[in-house]
Amino acid sequence: MSSSAQAPSTFTPAQWEEIEREEHDRVYAGMDPFDGSTLRIDPARVMVWEDYCYKAGARPDRGHRTRRLLELIDVENLDGKSILDVGCGIGQYSVFFALKGAIVTAFDISPVGIEQARKLAKVNGVEETCHFEVANASSMPYADETYDMIIYHEVLHHAIKYPRVREETLRVLKPGGRVVISETLRGNALLSLARRFSMAGEEAKGDVILEVEDLRGFAKGFNAYRIEPMSLLFMIKRVVCSHMSNPLVRLLLRTAKKTDDVLFWAFPSLRQLCGECVMIMRK
Ligand SMILES: C[S@@+](CC[C@H](N)C(=O)[O-])C[C@H]1O[C@@H](n2cnc3c(N)ncnc32)[C@H](O)[C@@H]1O
Repeated sequence: MSSSAQAPSTFTPAQWEEIEREEHDRVYAGMDPFDGSTLRIDPARVMVWEDYCYKAGARPDRGHRTRRLLELIDVENLDGKSILDVGCGIGQYSVFFALKGAIVTAFDISPVGIEQARKLAKVNGVEETCHFEVANASSMPYADETYDMIIYHEVLHHAIKYPRVREETLRVLKPGGRVVISETLRGNALLSLARRFSMAGEEAKGDVILEVEDLRGFAKGFNAYRIEPMSLLFMIKRVVCSHMSNPLVRLLLRTAKKTDDVLFWAFPSLRQLCGECVMIMRK
């Protein structure tokens, strides 16, 4: 039976890999990093770009979770650290980490992404410290206990449906090493409903809507982990992201963020309804 006639829930890992490879190959052809119009990466601009979306120059669609991930990996002190960037896409973060002094290995199932990534490393002069290959997180072509840090930047919602990804992550991480993940979460009924409408027809592209329980399951076998859920009212950014140049929209978002801060302070359990998170795990 061809995958187009099958229900997504019955796809095998090999079928998923084919579907996701084709989809990402299509997206990555000719793509420039960080939504810019050049292959050159300016690390200072990346830090501004990854800030809250209501700030001038910040990315409109996401907000702050990547910036928090960068804080958790101590991005200003990466000199000589070995990083594995899982599902690196066009390698924009891999090259950014290499520009910050890390020794980076990165892989993705998309050959087009990896071709772009190699070009990106060359243009930015880090081809000696930033290596890419086509691979699946199910079977990482690396030796045991190799990396200080493993990054899953917006990847786990794809990779989690493949077998052995957690085991492979544990295997290639050094003892005491850390895994840092940024992701969206199912969050709450209202967010789920909004997602059902905004993602209608996208189900067969392989996105798993993650629950906190999925993250806890992924942390099994690690010595310690912490999930930092974020954004409740602030998730409205997803609805208004195409109007970010409007100062009233930016004010609304700033207010939503401040209101979240107060709500979380007053009612910490509300965090379980949040729509995004970062997670850090230590081996
Ligand atoms: C949303 S993109 C994020 C790309 C990149 N991390 C970034 O933030 O720019 C998700 C990526 O994960 C890759 N991917 C999905 N499942 C994978 C797997 N099992 N092994 C390796 N890469 C995978 C996809 O091909 C895609 O490039």
